[in-house]
Amino acid sequence: MSKKIVSLVVVLVLAAGLVFAGGGGQKGKSSGDIRIGFAQCKADESDWRMANTRSMLNTFFVPGYQLTLADSNNDAAKQVADVQSFIDQEYDYIVIAAVNMDGWDTVLRNAQRAKIPVILVDRNINAPQDLWTCYVGPDFKVEGTKATDWMKKHFGDKPVNVVNLQGQLGSGAQVGRSAALDDAIAANSNWTLVARQTGDWSTDVAKQVMTSWIQQYGDRINCVYAENDNMADGAIQALQERGIKVGGADGVAIISFDANRPYLQMTLAGLINCNVECNPLHGPRVKGIIDSLEKGIQPKKIEYIEEEAFFWDTITQAVIDARQY
Ligand code: AHR
Repeated sequence: MSKKIVSLVVVLVLAAGLVFAGGGGQKGKSSGDIRIGFAQCKADESDWRMANTRSMLNTFFVPGYQLTLADSNNDAAKQVADVQSFIDQEYDYIVIAAVNMDGWDTVLRNAQRAKIPVILVDRNINAPQDLWTCYVGPDFKVEGTKATDWMKKHFGDKPVNVVNLQGQLGSGAQVGRSAALDDAIAANSNWTLVARQTGDWSTDVAKQVMTSWIQQYGDRINCVYAENDNMADGAIQALQERGIKVGGADGVAIISFDANRPYLQMTLAGLINCNVECNPLHGPRVKGIIDSLEKGIQPKKIEYIEEEAFFWDTITQAVIDARQY
């Protein structure tokens, strides 16, 4: 199967329990393949999540590996059940991109008892460190601080009346990014949190929430802190439909996270002021960890990845063209 077809499958057939086997077919445990159970939050939830799903599927679509993707549809209880099912089927490795930080202890103890290594990817969780093998992904609070540092420079001593479109509540990405904003609000007496609500990582939900905030607070809002690209897009649409100037030097300042290519174009166009990268290309990282473990080499317990931030007044087309996603 070509990479293009794998991508198409991701978009069209996102159901629980899809098995992707390298070398052209599904194989059982007896084949000697390394069997990996991947508990994904919601494979087609956002541009970022689709890039992440593609990275995992493409990376493991090689001989010797068999990856099963379980899509929880952002349902935390289903995701825990998906992981238990991987344990029951004696997978060799379990990879989790957690919907929620909490609720993992029991199932992770079961994995530990079954001696199945658990790799946390992209989303950190609240569980004792001895219950999981390693974490690879962002430091979400560091991401948030890059955004609040930009806000400090942009607004200086002027009042900052910010609304916060949060990610799915309880996820590592939401908790870290919201915490960075909380810290900056506490540290800057000219900053006010006007409103805060989840937009569930979705353009449409964010647009609805932003529309109601515009009705309630009017032109008092001068900054939107949207915790992903899709929600920033929803907020921008809501503002523009009401004729409110967005981005640039003097429009409502728009903060976004993820930095997917279409949204970097919006950054270059001045619609998003500050877009903090959250890199979704974890497939090769996870494969590197599994290959090390196969050789008996323990990976780093926590590996935060380096990420950049992009700004409307410094980004160039060449920068965007050089990006991988
Ligand atoms: O965990 C990363 C976050 O999850 C991304 O910002 C968001 O788009 C995704 O769903």
